[in-house]
Amino acid sequence: MALMKISDVRALVTGGTSGIGFEIAKQLKEKGGEVVICGRDESKLRKAASSIGAHGILADVSVESEAVDLVQQTIAHLPGYNVLINNAGFGSFAPLLDTDLAAMQSLFATNVFGAMVVARESARHFIARKRGNIVNMSSSAGVRGFAGGTAYAASKFALSGMTECWRAELRKHDIRVMQINPARCRRTFFAEAARRVIGSCARRKSLTPHCRCWRWTTEVSSPSCRCGRRIRISAICHFESAEPRERKGRGSGGAR
Ligand SMILES: NC(=O)c1ccc[n+]([C@@H]2O[C@H](COP(=O)([O-])OP(=O)(O)OC[C@H]3O[C@@H](n4cnc5c(N)ncnc54)[C@H](OP(=O)(O)O)[C@@H]3O)[C@@H](O)[C@H]2O)c1
Repeated sequence: MALMKISDVRALVTGGTSGIGFEIAKQLKEKGGEVVICGRDESKLRKAASSIGAHGILADVSVESEAVDLVQQTIAHLPGYNVLINNAGFGSFAPLLDTDLAAMQSLFATNVFGAMVVARESARHFIARKRGNIVNMSSSAGVRGFAGGTAYAASKFALSGMTECWRAELRKHDIRVMQINPARCRRTFFAEAARRVIGSCARRKSLTPHCRCWRWTTEVSSPSCRCGRRIRISAICHFESAEPRERKGRGSGGAR
């Protein structure tokens, strides 16, 4: 297989509006590649795309029709589309006894099923072109489980499994399938995960400002809100980073 020059990259970066995906998209653009990014939040998408000169497509990859349409629009916008950075994903952490089935299904809908649909549609295009690259954004949680990781680690183990299957199937078409396993690299990711736990708390009306000010500064801490629910998370995270949105939520009818 010949080495690929970054200036030849025509990439779709799912979840390219913030964090790791945004940085990848930015670097690719800076080095001469052409990039399409996607996300669910329209204003975030517009801002991110214009700041790096990428093309933005509003799409929720957990919805099959939107994921299919995303790849079609990418192909139309990027002739020679040749790299999928399958990055869109999020975390949700709870001990087994507190693991909510609906929350886990929602996590899988993005981290696993969404990744599969975007890869499947992209692979169809790459097979027709007889080359392509799929880069799956897994996690160290896709290699090793940990307390509180039932849903997230399972989703990333599933992605790791799919990576191996796709690699075995697509090699003969000259399609490279790769996986990246980042460890903790951004506190926003964990703050968003914490917000999700609060959002899913059955008694969230009893949340007080105290609950919104958890300060997680140790490797494993177990904050609890006044409703008595205790949460463990393997993360160093200052939940205050999510405070402005919580305040906004309170003003418009309570914590979300
Ligand atoms: N940060 C870490 O420490 C870390 C460690 C290991 C692995 N990872 C993995 O790296 C990837 C990126 O993480 P990050 O920390 O950069 O997250 P992030 O900053 O929260 O960004 C997530 C991106 O994914 C998008 N997204 C989420 N769900 C989506 C959906 N259903 N459809 C379309 N877009 C969606 C978000 O856009 P919207 O806001 O518009 O939805 C955003 O652009 C994830 O797969 C994550 O599991 C992260």
